[in-house]
Parts: sequence; C-alpha cells; structure tokens
Amino acid sequence: MERQEKLKINGLDAERNLKGTVYISGAKNAALKAMAGAVLFDGPVELHNVPDTADVRTIVEIMTKLGARIESKDDVLTIDPNTITNTDIDRKLAGNIRASVMLTGPLLARYGKTTFPAPGGCVIGCRPIDLFLNGYRKLGASVVEHDELFDIKDGNFHGGDIFFDKVTVGGTETLVMTATLAKGRTILYNCAMEPEIVNLVEWLNRGGAKISGAGTPTITVDGTAGKLLKPVKYEAIPDRIEAGSYLILGALIAKELEIKDCEPEHLRAVVSILSDAGVKINVDDKAKTIVVSNDNAKNYTPLNDIRTHEYPGFPTDLQAPLTVFATQVNGKSAIFETIYENRFKYVQDLVAMGANIRAISERDVEVNGPTTFKGTSEIFPGMIIPARDIRAGFAIVMAAILAHGESTISNVHLIDRGYEDLAGKLKGLGVELERISN
Ligand code: EPU
Repeated sequence: MERQEKLKINGLDAERNLKGTVYISGAKNAALKAMAGAVLFDGPVELHNVPDTADVRTIVEIMTKLGARIESKDDVLTIDPNTITNTDIDRKLAGNIRASVMLTGPLLARYGKTTFPAPGGCVIGCRPIDLFLNGYRKLGASVVEHDELFDIKDGNFHGGDIFFDKVTVGGTETLVMTATLAKGRTILYNCAMEPEIVNLVEWLNRGGAKISGAGTPTITVDGTAGKLLKPVKYEAIPDRIEAGSYLILGALIAKELEIKDCEPEHLRAVVSILSDAGVKINVDDKAKTIVVSNDNAKNYTPLNDIRTHEYPGFPTDLQAPLTVFATQVNGKSAIFETIYENRFKYVQDLVAMGANIRAISERDVEVNGPTTFKGTSEIFPGMIIPARDIRAGFAIVMAAILAHGESTISNVHLIDRGYEDLAGKLKGLGVELERISN
C-alpha cells in the first residue's frame, strides 16, 4: 500500500514565507552501518537516535531473517546478534537496499561465511561492489560467484593491507568492521573520511576494537583474533544530509527557519557555498543550531563550478537540492557530479516544471536562473512527477513547494527511505501538503 502513496503539494509561489523549527533526526547513513556492526558484539546492543526511515526498516527485516532478535522503541533499536543462525542475506530484500552489502563484512568476520546477491539496479549509477570483494580477498577470504550470488568464505582470515582504488564510504566502513575481528593488523589506505565512519569507529572502539585513524585517509585496525566486542550503547550522529536539505530549502523560501539538533561542523561545505551565494545563515556550534532566512533572496548570485566531493567536500547527496537552489538565483550556475555517473536524471522533471537547465553531459549541468516553477497540475491536469531516488525526490518536493499551483509526486516510498516524517516536518513549517494513497 505504502508503495502507491503520492504527495500532493500546494505551491507557495510568490509567498515564500515558511517559518519555524525543524528537528533533525539521527543519520540513516550512520545508523544503517551500526546495525551491521551490531553483529560484532557479544550480546544485545542498544542503538540510539535511529531514524524511522524505510531503509532502517528494511535492514531490520534482513537481519531478522538472519535470526537476529530486534526490538524497537521510539528511536532506540536493540539488536541481539547472538541469535543469528543464518548468514545468507535475503536476495529479494538485498535488491532493495545497497547498504545491505555492509552486513557481509561483519557476518564474514564473525561466522566465517556469507552469501550475498549481485547488486541490481542502476538508479544513480552502476555502484559495483568490487572494492568490497577485493578487500575480503586481501584478508584471506575466497569469493565465488554463481547464480548471481557471491559466496564468501574466510579461508585463512587475517589482517592485510588494503588500498582503495576509489574512495568508498561503505567499503571503508565494511572492511574496517571485517578487520576488527581478524587476526593481526590491517591497514586501509585512501579511506573515506565521512563523519559517519568516525561515529561507527568510536563505538566499536568503546566495545574493545582497536582502530585508529578514522576520519583520515589511513585507518589501522589491530584485529581481536575472533574475540567479540563487549556490548556498549551507540548513538547516531545527526543526519547532515537531512539538515543540509532543509538548509537549502530554507534559503529559498523561509522567512526564518531554525534547524535544530544538527551538527554544524559537518555542514561546513554547504554553509560556505550558500553564504558565498548571499544566503543569510547563522551558525551556533554550541547550540547545534543553524538559522537560515531568504531575506536576501533577490540578490543571490550563481554557483560557480560546484563539484560534488567526498567529505569534507560538498556532498553528492545534496547535489539535487542545490540544483533547485541554482534555478532560483540570478545567472548561470554550473554543477558537476564527480561521485556517480548518472545522478542528474531528475533534471528532466525540473525542466518539465519550468527550470532552464542544460545537461552538458551525464555528470555536468548548467542552470540558468531565475525561473518560476509550474505545479504539475498547471503543466497538464492529472500530471504526476516521480521521485527518482531519495535525494532527487527531495529536490522535486522543493520545486513543488516553490511552484505556482498544485503538484502531485509519486514514488514517495523512495523519499521515505531517507527522510524521517518528511510530510510532518514540512507541514510544521507551513507547507500545505498531504499524502494520498491512490
Ligand atoms: N564504488 C565502486 N566499487 C565499490 C564501491 C563503490 O566503484 O565496490 C563506487 C560507487 O559506484 C560510487 C563511488 O564508488 O561511484 C562512491 O560510492 P560509496 O561506496 O562511497 O557509496 P556508498 O557507501 O554506497 C554512501 C551513502 C550514499 C552516498 C555515498 C557517497 C550510505 C548507506 N549510502 O553510499 O547515500 O551517496 O556514500 O557519499 O551510506 C543517500 O543517502 O541518498 C545515498 C545514496
């Protein structure tokens, strides 16, 4: 049923006067990794500040099928990995969520084997798992592919040197977790430096892991030689992508938007780009609050050659919301996607709604602003625009809020994968919208 839900949004058009406070949830991209990491602990672990998003629910389902006992209360998940009896990751569920590949590392580390389906779908690029498999081989595992399944067994499981040819967030996290229980030292080079990795490693270390260098390109793991970690509480950091999404939205249409429970330190690149464009932003690091307003919107300047980049650069996950921002400023902006080869598909939807965007290549767009968005019902009655992925979905929601007239957006389940209570949070700021189920 949920899959058929749509969002109906009444555009604010000229009245760009949202106001209020939005409270940021725990980071789904941190919590998902901690859920996988729970496998390394000897007994139930409590994960706090876990957002209620569809991806979290999918991993709960996958881990439950493995035999883990999981309880959920408010934003706390309690996972008991000691009841796991099965190490074969469910084929169908894994196809819905790439983060499921991260379970393979901890399962391999603890049980010496796992099977995982070859990843399907190419929504935002091909997203292979070669870096994971190479890493497992470096640690002594054997990887056999048959019937679209990877069969991974530990063989002679030991530490090793792993050089990532490409910076990978999930690969870094997964190989660190795998090496945690290995025999001997593993050094990982050219690692991703995302705050979610630091969040994960600090927790593993409190449980007895010996990992240093998280947040830098080189991470060293002294394996415990099979000794499981002592259960300790985990707390997810604030979701910097959710916070950044509301920050960009607020820059366009909020008289005043207070973003609370965020970690400003993790949003430096976004704040810097928006401030340079003329957005008025007040950052209070101590209060974990950012206040943004559109007071200066008439004078916003274009974005010059923005490139998505691994942390601490401008995140690819905010590329789509930033493109919407560029449609509202005076002049020509250029945005280049460096991480994924196919993350601009939503541009055609923005163009249908009235944006002036030229795709230079699959990775490169030129945006001419300012333009006025038309709601989908103004384009033609009954028109529906789909959310294409989590972040493109948020971008279309932004365009619909800015638009003249009403819009209907389908595939809301994709937005639900990453944004907790999107409709409730937007309503709280004054957006007129409803979820409809047909
Ligand atoms: N890559 C490979 N081989 C691999 C692994 C990755 O070529 O074995 C490539 C990917 O295809 C991609 C690049 O390396 O082109 C970077 O991918 P990475 O592994 O860093 O991404 P990820 O770990 O799969 C996480 C987030 C994504 C976010 C990226 C980049 C989670 C669950 N997902 O994905 O978040 O875009 O890092 O920051 O943490 C989202 O939340 O909407 C989302 C897509």
